[in-house]
Amino acid sequence: MASASDTVLSVRELRTEFRGDRGNVRVLDDISFDVGRGRIVGLVGESGSGKSMTALSLMGLVPKPQGHVSAKSIMLDGTDLATLTPDGMRRVRGSEISMVFQEPMTSLNPVRKIWDQVGEPLAIHHGLKRKEIRERVLEMFELVGIPEPKARLDAYPHELSGGLRQRAMIAMGLICEPKLLIADEPTTALDVTTQSQILKLMLDLRDRVGTAIIMITHDLGIIAEMCDEVNVMYAGQIVEQADVFDLFERPSHPYTRGLLASIPKAGAARVSKRMPSIPGMVPNLAKLPPGCRFGPRCGDTMAICQKAPALAGVEQGHVARCWLHAQQETSGQGASS
Ligand SMILES: Nc1ncnc2c1ncn2[C@@H]1O[C@H](COP(=O)(O)OP(=O)(O)O)[C@@H](O)[C@H]1O
Ligand SMILES: [Mg+2]
Repeated sequence: MASASDTVLSVRELRTEFRGDRGNVRVLDDISFDVGRGRIVGLVGESGSGKSMTALSLMGLVPKPQGHVSAKSIMLDGTDLATLTPDGMRRVRGSEISMVFQEPMTSLNPVRKIWDQVGEPLAIHHGLKRKEIRERVLEMFELVGIPEPKARLDAYPHELSGGLRQRAMIAMGLICEPKLLIADEPTTALDVTTQSQILKLMLDLRDRVGTAIIMITHDLGIIAEMCDEVNVMYAGQIVEQADVFDLFERPSHPYTRGLLASIPKAGAARVSKRMPSIPGMVPNLAKLPPGCRFGPRCGDTMAICQKAPALAGVEQGHVARCWLHAQQETSGQGASS
């Protein structure tokens, strides 16, 4: 793990709830993790595990008024995002921390030229003139490898391929030189070849620009290729946290083992498109099972699994939320719910 000064983002006890007539649903529970400067940190888990909610919570984009985000702290390079007002958060978003989504078309305006949209953060955060913005967008297009960048400035979104649109969105995410870029399934909507080009671009940008990245994916192949550290999510919690090599060498949570066991062998992980399947389903967050949330799907259950396990150390820098690794502890201290 990086030392404090090398840490760009430090999330502690993030909890997100949706409140409604039929009660409250806690979609994120006790999420804590760090992102080191220039590191790529993965969030991986099946659909519905809370990956996108984690991203939206960090960005201050959880839908209001139903959504409620609380955290002990969300330190972004010395600023606690958890204490910012909506206005303060607006100043940070797109400049200090930005996000790239799965389907660029949904975040692009179809009737505005691409350069105008990609450059918008510069207008909002730095008040640059249009001519300066256009020049800077051209530089960014070159950086993210858009061919014939000058000719593409005046294109409308539908005139670009999916891969070029995603490159443009990455350009937009990076245009204010943020400390952190969150990429939420950035290649899921792309064909395999374009997917690997975009992943390569992101690795390359991390090396050249030094941006720290949170890489959100359901694909362990992408995690293996891209990430330095990994957080495995299940039913709104982090269930395992480790260096990428340790996670693949010594997966410790039965959920992580299940995910890994179902990856096709011999490099086929590169082409795996969907989450390998583990029997059973992700629990309904409004009706969680008592004790360990993975219990109903786990092949290793013991009597103690009726109590919720806390994250416990497996080895240096490697923790798992599982009684297999916490049997020495006297109580479920720190366990939530
Ligand atoms: N607007 C919402 N209102 C209530 N629950 C929501 C809302 N958006 C997402 N959720 C719930 O939050 C949980 C996590 O969703 P999400 O973060 O999108 O999962 P992932 O990105 O890992 O697939 C899911 O159970 C989902 O149903
Ligand atoms: Mg998602």
